[in-house]
Amino acid sequence: MSQIENKKQVFKPNREFAKDARIKNMCEYQALQDAANEDYEGFWGGYAKEKLEWMEPFTDVMDNKNFPFVNWFVGGKLNVSVQCIDRHLSSRKNKAAIIFEGDRGDKKIITYLELYYNVNQFANLLKNEFGVKKGDRVIIYMPMIPEAAYAMLACARIGAIHSIVFGGFSAEALKDRIEDADAKVVITADGAFRKDKPYMLKPVVDEALSGNTPVEKVLVVERNGEDITWVAGRDYSYNELIKHQNTKCEPEVMESEDPLFLLYTSGSTGKPKGVQHNSAGYILWAQMTMEWVFDVKENDTYWCTADVGWITGHTYIVYGPLAMGATTVMFEGVPTYPDAGRPWKMVEEYKINQFYTAPTAIRVLHKMGENEPAKYDLSSLKVLGTVGEPIDPPAWKWYYEAVGSSKCAIVDTYWQTETGGHIVSPLPGATPIKPACATFPLPGIMAEILDEHGNRAEVGEKGFMCVTRPWPSMIRGVWGDKDRFVKSYFGDVKKDGLPVYFTGDGAMYDEDGYITITGRTDDVINVSGHRMGTAEVEAAIKKHPNVAEVAVVGKPHEIKGEGIFAYIVLKSDKGVADEVEEVKAINKVILKEIGAIALCDDMLFTPGLPKTRSGKIMRRILRSIAKGEEITQDISTLEDPSIVQIIANMLKK
Ligand code: WT7
Repeated sequence: MSQIENKKQVFKPNREFAKDARIKNMCEYQALQDAANEDYEGFWGGYAKEKLEWMEPFTDVMDNKNFPFVNWFVGGKLNVSVQCIDRHLSSRKNKAAIIFEGDRGDKKIITYLELYYNVNQFANLLKNEFGVKKGDRVIIYMPMIPEAAYAMLACARIGAIHSIVFGGFSAEALKDRIEDADAKVVITADGAFRKDKPYMLKPVVDEALSGNTPVEKVLVVERNGEDITWVAGRDYSYNELIKHQNTKCEPEVMESEDPLFLLYTSGSTGKPKGVQHNSAGYILWAQMTMEWVFDVKENDTYWCTADVGWITGHTYIVYGPLAMGATTVMFEGVPTYPDAGRPWKMVEEYKINQFYTAPTAIRVLHKMGENEPAKYDLSSLKVLGTVGEPIDPPAWKWYYEAVGSSKCAIVDTYWQTETGGHIVSPLPGATPIKPACATFPLPGIMAEILDEHGNRAEVGEKGFMCVTRPWPSMIRGVWGDKDRFVKSYFGDVKKDGLPVYFTGDGAMYDEDGYITITGRTDDVINVSGHRMGTAEVEAAIKKHPNVAEVAVVGKPHEIKGEGIFAYIVLKSDKGVADEVEEVKAINKVILKEIGAIALCDDMLFTPGLPKTRSGKIMRRILRSIAKGEEITQDISTLEDPSIVQIIANMLKK
């Protein structure tokens, strides 16, 4: 058994690295955690004063009176774009803020001073040409190009609330989010490039805006130069308008708790939730975790491969790195094009020091290019990060050995859209790491695994991953739905009789107190590190006129972590005439309703579904069948127990 497969193996931090690390050992970590425990508000208040530039100081660190509605840094005023840009101009104006590499290898370096001018102009455009005001919602539907970051920061500068919709979402999904957010502006691009070919975004926006829409103006950035249609009076060219904008736009004075952005994510119902993050607390933790978890130094180059359409792209491509004045790499392309050496070529070329990606990408790169890392000089790497799903030991081993030459720390960062930033993660200079283990709560984060009675889970016992005290970057609400916010996160687990934040994930302590995340405990599945609500996929499939019933579950998938498995009952008079055609037709509906990310890996047409007498679908049984497991659950309470065997037999065929 190799050392890494042996779960007990512990990898100590690289000594050379630890010498200069911000947190150098576990004693320092413990001291920080003790300080937070002893004086929670003092801990956070101290950092908020030290790390942020305030236009007006806050008077109270935390107002907890309306828990779970918590206010941080009450009375303080600031602007997030100032945190990310203006305050760096005195010492870093000519430093690269963003290094952009396009799909086709085109490159661009944007200094902090250039970023300042670009964002100011963008802000003026939104304000003066489109009349965007503080509190207005702006949808950003963009490829991975620097203008996406400008758009986010421009919104922050004028106090508008941005909501980025991942470019892979369909017109229908985009429309739902536009309507829920009641957005008046959409910022998009003609399209972009993927694998050397143009793809389009603007036509999707056109479709999303057909019919009634709250959107008045659309701003289109030119990226791939393909032909698009323009709606007079609604659509405007960024490239034209930006030329006329003043390069100075006074930042809006924002309260600590003024909303910064919404980001829609999947929950256990068919409707995605607009997770709301506010200004001061979010940006503070974005910056602190960049410093602690990636330990980026002044001359380092940091690359996170996420898309700005997800929370990782928000916090760890744009807000976190820029808040600390780092150089952040933005990449338009896919990691396996033109070959599976692309990321390593980029690491060599830009001398990347911290590299942050998802286990699904590591598995693909491993599978398609096991020996690629050896072809490049990766000696600049110091910290390797993973996020989004549990990483399996073989992928971890390859990442550690082949990419990191057994000298880089691997930070398995556990967090979610709602937490704003990391909550459980190794610290690269301090934490002895264990493969595939998120290790310990970060300083200041009271993360704890609780059992159903609210007691700390025993070693080896599966419990609920919770955070027992509110923290600055915690979700502030579900847009337009106060009840859903309270019910989704503060209903299920209590400690000392009081509700605590429950992540929705299961987790376990080992004998050394290390935390391992075991996965979601709800009907949310994790496909390639992204959350997909089974109810959302079911709602889409149900739109097909032939479908009578559907149940969607997750099934382990070699590359994606989890794949989507749909059990479908067709309307009786129709039957399955042609299975291939039926699958095609249903896929079309999914593409229309959600997008390619929700396409099913398996579809099984069954005569019925296992249901209790009260009509509840037993997804647990369906999950077992999908995995090919023997059914050990008690099925006697089912309305028709025979259906279990029928479905299992169908799958064996
Ligand atoms: C869910 C959050 C966090 C940004 C990307 C996804 C899972 C996340 C880990 C990890 C095991 C992880 C959880 C979580 N998850 N990081 N290091 N180990 N699981 O954000 O779409 O909000 O999904 O991803 O299940 O709840 P998201």
